[in-house]
Amino acid sequence: MAGQSMLRLAGLAACSAVLVLGCGNDAPDPAPAATSPAPAAPGALPRITILATGGTIAGKANANSAVGYTAGEATAQDLIDAVPGLDKIATLDAVQVSNIGSQDMNDEVWLDLATRINQIFAEDRADGVVITHGTDTLEETAFFLDHVVASPKPVVLVGSMRPSTALSADGPANLRSAVQVAADPRARGRGAMVVLNDTIHGADDVTKTNTTSVQTFVSPNTGPIGHVDAAAVQFARPAQDRQRLTFPVPGAAPLPRVAIVYSHAGMDATAVDDALGHGARGLVLAGVGDGNTAKPVVDALSGAARRGVLVARSSRVGSGSVVRNAELNDDELGTVSALGLNPAKARILVQLLLTQGITDPAEAQRKFADS
Ligand code: DGL
Repeated sequence: MAGQSMLRLAGLAACSAVLVLGCGNDAPDPAPAATSPAPAAPGALPRITILATGGTIAGKANANSAVGYTAGEATAQDLIDAVPGLDKIATLDAVQVSNIGSQDMNDEVWLDLATRINQIFAEDRADGVVITHGTDTLEETAFFLDHVVASPKPVVLVGSMRPSTALSADGPANLRSAVQVAADPRARGRGAMVVLNDTIHGADDVTKTNTTSVQTFVSPNTGPIGHVDAAAVQFARPAQDRQRLTFPVPGAAPLPRVAIVYSHAGMDATAVDDALGHGARGLVLAGVGDGNTAKPVVDALSGAARRGVLVARSSRVGSGSVVRNAELNDDELGTVSALGLNPAKARILVQLLLTQGITDPAEAQRKFADS
């Protein structure tokens, strides 16, 4: 993807954070307890702390229908217990952070996760962090954490498309894969990744492309960065030691309001006007084609940009990079090309830029190029 560069901040330990789906029905645990695994003795297994947030991986069948299920029916410990031999890969600890379907993922949980991960790694209380999560917004949490985890330690997201009670539930195998990746020293320095269906993806490119299939996650622009199976973790290429765009963890929720405007045939500027009327400080166009849209919408977006709203052009298309100053002249409009970021990820980057007071399109464009 365009212009990405990665240089992991100097880290002190080879650690990694891996997010795995799951959930629990307990109230959120307080800050990581002192029960976190003790410092690793030389030659000991890697120490992995599992932070549970919710999702399908621990979902259980309900009476809605023959295929109905409810997320958040099992605890992080239940997830661990369902994977024989997991304790032979790493020394595990489990913390329940929340138990929500990821369609309800929110800024509060994001800030909690980011703060916990940075604290656990900074205090060397674990060699890796496994976080359980739903698949619907999996790619968004990965992208957010990829840009606020203050270390070279990678963040990898894993999807589970079937509940624990389903025929051929994919959760246990995915959890094992996630812990394998988290425990592998080569996972360090890769930023956020997605591990699902034995495949490892980078957080910046990965996206969910199928409503029900276990192979739903793909990396449309760059392809997978590796594969994992019961025997081994295989990375397709070395970690790239390039400057990575990172931000301080935002001080408080909610993050700045940024709206996504979905483009379609026969569109007028109503959606833009409504978003601005509700206080949006940033706008992301999910444009047709190469980040394009109807003339009235272009005019409304440009008008917003002239009034200091940060406007990024992404595409609903699903792959490729939005070319700056091609069909639309970003220089004249005051807009930013989201390059290869999909609308949901472009929105998160605009939010993070706004938390730093960045509204100048030229500066914002440089940050998108570095993302
Ligand atoms: N409720 C959705 C979520 O938590 C189900 C999708 C899943 O977890 O696989 O994202």
